[in-house]
Amino acid sequence: MTTSINKVGVIGLGLMGHGIVQAASMAPGKRYEVVGLEATEDAIGAGKGRIEASIKRQLSRSVARGKLTEADAESQGADYLSRISYTTDRAGLADCDLVIEAITENPAIKLPLYTELGLLTKPSCILASNTSSLKIADMAGASGRPDRVVGLHFFNPVQVMKLVEVVRTDATDPAVFEQCRAFVNSIGKHPVSCKDTPGFIVNRLLVPALAQAMLMVDRGDASVEDIDKSMELGAGHPMGPLALADYVGLDTCLFILQGWVDNFPSEPAFVVPDCLRAMVDAGKLGRKSGEGFYKWEGDKRGPVS
Ligand code: 3HC
Repeated sequence: MTTSINKVGVIGLGLMGHGIVQAASMAPGKRYEVVGLEATEDAIGAGKGRIEASIKRQLSRSVARGKLTEADAESQGADYLSRISYTTDRAGLADCDLVIEAITENPAIKLPLYTELGLLTKPSCILASNTSSLKIADMAGASGRPDRVVGLHFFNPVQVMKLVEVVRTDATDPAVFEQCRAFVNSIGKHPVSCKDTPGFIVNRLLVPALAQAMLMVDRGDASVEDIDKSMELGAGHPMGPLALADYVGLDTCLFILQGWVDNFPSEPAFVVPDCLRAMVDAGKLGRKSGEGFYKWEGDKRGPVS
């Protein structure tokens, strides 16, 4: 059963979800109707504000570079926004062709959601999770339509990062998988194909590297700033590992690493550094809370004095 993707639902308008809504609404290859779902009107207000500000920011950059006139930016912005609607009612997703879930990484919340989505969306609808650390097969099983469930794993900031990991389980219909790869291309991003393994490709390589940098902090091998500068200037990374951990969220890093330690205790790359646990316990979650390995004000960071 293949139907074309025209209407896209996004569940969760937080850090990742708002960027996914923006990317789908600004697709260069297709005009998608996009529905953003949140639990409360307040959460919709916050998500909508971020989406509108971010679309405006992107268009203003194009104006500043002489790629668009002010008038074109204004009419394009209005056109992108007209493609997006918002709801707190899950029934609003019933006629979507693709639903991308980007809610909190809690299986106790996610699995019942997939069961409900399997019942309320039309049978041809593809369900995709943006999870970074949970098994897609578990959500596929809960949905009652495992052949139409994939992972679509975006990267933060979604508006800038070009990669999307397209994750298949043993049950994923190959035609659904190809449709999802084509969807990723249509929103101007690059799809890579992954199996349903811990961390897929990027996080399996990246998160252990972040943990190694934190272990250097635990051992006192080098300062936070010197570790980061080393990877920026010595390895050409846009951000050092500790700044990146702050940027991703230290609670997210801990959640991923702890899950791996619990599930794969004999894998030596999976460890929880002491400094990571201590900072999360102290409510220092990185950029989102204003302090982690650095102090943050928006995108600007400085040393913790
Ligand atoms: N939203 C929209 N646009 C943004 C943005 C945001 N949040 N942050 C930056 N941008 C845009 C800017 O507008 C600017 O656009 P322009 O080139 O058109 O002028 C461009 O990105 C560069 O931004 P800045 O000049 O402000 O800053 P930098 O050059 O330092 O880039 C960065 C910022 C893009 C965040 C860069 O430091 C970077 O690439 N860092 C690494 C990010 C990364 O590795 N992400 C993956 C994390 S892992 C993950 O997400 C997986 C999860 O499962 C854990």
